[in-house]
Amino acid sequence: MHRRIFAPGVLAAATLLLAVPASAASFAPGAPGMGDPYYPAAGNGGYDVSHYDLRLKYQPATDLLEGTATLLATTKQNLSSFHLDLGLDVSEVRVNGRLARFAKEGEQELVITPAAPLEKGKSLSVVVRYAGKPSEVRIGGFTAWHRTPDGGVAAQEPDSAAWWFPSNDHPLDKATYDVSVSVPDGSQAISNGVLQSQSSKLGWTRFAWRSNKPQASYLATLAVGRFDVTTDRTASGLPVLNAYSKDLGDHGGAARASIERTAEVTEWLEGIFGPYPFNAIGGYIPNVTSGYALETQTRPFYSPRQFANGANVSVVVHEMAHQWYGDSVSVHHWKDIWINEGFARYSQWLWSEKEGEGTAQELADHAYSSRPADDPFWQVKPGDPGPDKQFDIAVYDRGAMAIQALRNKVGDEAFFRILKGWPQQYAYGNAKVSDFVRYAEKVSKKPLAELFDTWLFQPSKPSAPAAAQARI
Ligand code: ARG
Ligand code: ZN
Repeated sequence: MHRRIFAPGVLAAATLLLAVPASAASFAPGAPGMGDPYYPAAGNGGYDVSHYDLRLKYQPATDLLEGTATLLATTKQNLSSFHLDLGLDVSEVRVNGRLARFAKEGEQELVITPAAPLEKGKSLSVVVRYAGKPSEVRIGGFTAWHRTPDGGVAAQEPDSAAWWFPSNDHPLDKATYDVSVSVPDGSQAISNGVLQSQSSKLGWTRFAWRSNKPQASYLATLAVGRFDVTTDRTASGLPVLNAYSKDLGDHGGAARASIERTAEVTEWLEGIFGPYPFNAIGGYIPNVTSGYALETQTRPFYSPRQFANGANVSVVVHEMAHQWYGDSVSVHHWKDIWINEGFARYSQWLWSEKEGEGTAQELADHAYSSRPADDPFWQVKPGDPGPDKQFDIAVYDRGAMAIQALRNKVGDEAFFRILKGWPQQYAYGNAKVSDFVRYAEKVSKKPLAELFDTWLFQPSKPSAPAAAQARI
């Protein structure tokens, strides 16, 4: 959604423009990026995608992914050409039904020149036929595709889409998704949202998934492998679907004992953040060697290593908290990462508080006092950490200390109204750190600029811990 305010002069100019035939208006190439200060090439300019329809086939034995993506979009300017982000090989592109010229630029830019230029404000359909081995795609020397002994997985932040589908790869352009993937009988394809159908023919099984609320491209996921799947419904009727690799070894019990508690965790989080924003819940855990989790929308990705020491419900709390703080309300630019990670970490502290394993205040104090002032931890500014430190532990832990400082400053009553109000206020949208500061000031009726500057924007250890800071 884009709101525009027209001054009278602009309206007059717009009327004049309308009088000029389209052929005489000027058309320009869409920008190759969305203007993100950390990732200038991420996303593209000139259009807004509303829906992705992906119809794919994946062969675990060879890592070959092939298929067709259909994107429904609206043009935001007169376009002579536009970009998509994709690392795989393209064989054909159609724009509004007509064959279009295309060229690959660099590692991930697909430049499309339609047969006829595109007018601003019109609906646009783009069909891309493509194929390739995602494990061989390197963008900036890096791969977001995890190949496993029985398949492959796309799950990474800040991006993973370019390894498996063409997109406008930035959280500012969210869309709904239908993902239909055919895999050899006996394997499963896991994605976001609700499993609409599963059907088998000629040795192949097709899984059709639907994620029906706005979803950022990095939160779209695909996993192919051999999984045990559990399904259920929550008390409020949400479908639950969890998928466990058949090959989790010793970690399998602990993983299940954690991920099977997703419904309980979600219900508890609803008490703090308000109604769950999506159409399904669950989690999936392929037999990857990575050590992180990711809040892939409706169905987080987990790694076996996170369950090496037994159950880890805290990581489930973290990833499900992101469904409100990160997925429904997403970063505006990637430098706003604190509005995701600070709150997901703080939710883990609240869970600990509820479980009697240490209050959020105690955990904040511990995190503060266990790091001396010369620890490089304090040089990272959670409010603008830079691309290299985007997922630094300081974004999480100092980010959560900032939230404890806020709680102490405004008191529990206002604090929990802020935590619940924010996901409503910006539901399915994007927000900046400054939007949060303004919102918290509005709800609490307290000036908070200094507190947030101290905790989020200074490259040094705050002079006093969160509790004392609040009294200053
Ligand atoms: N948002 C994810 C989490 O906090 C972070 C993933 C970071 N990626 C990585 N490769 N470490 O769970
Ligand atoms: Zn996180």
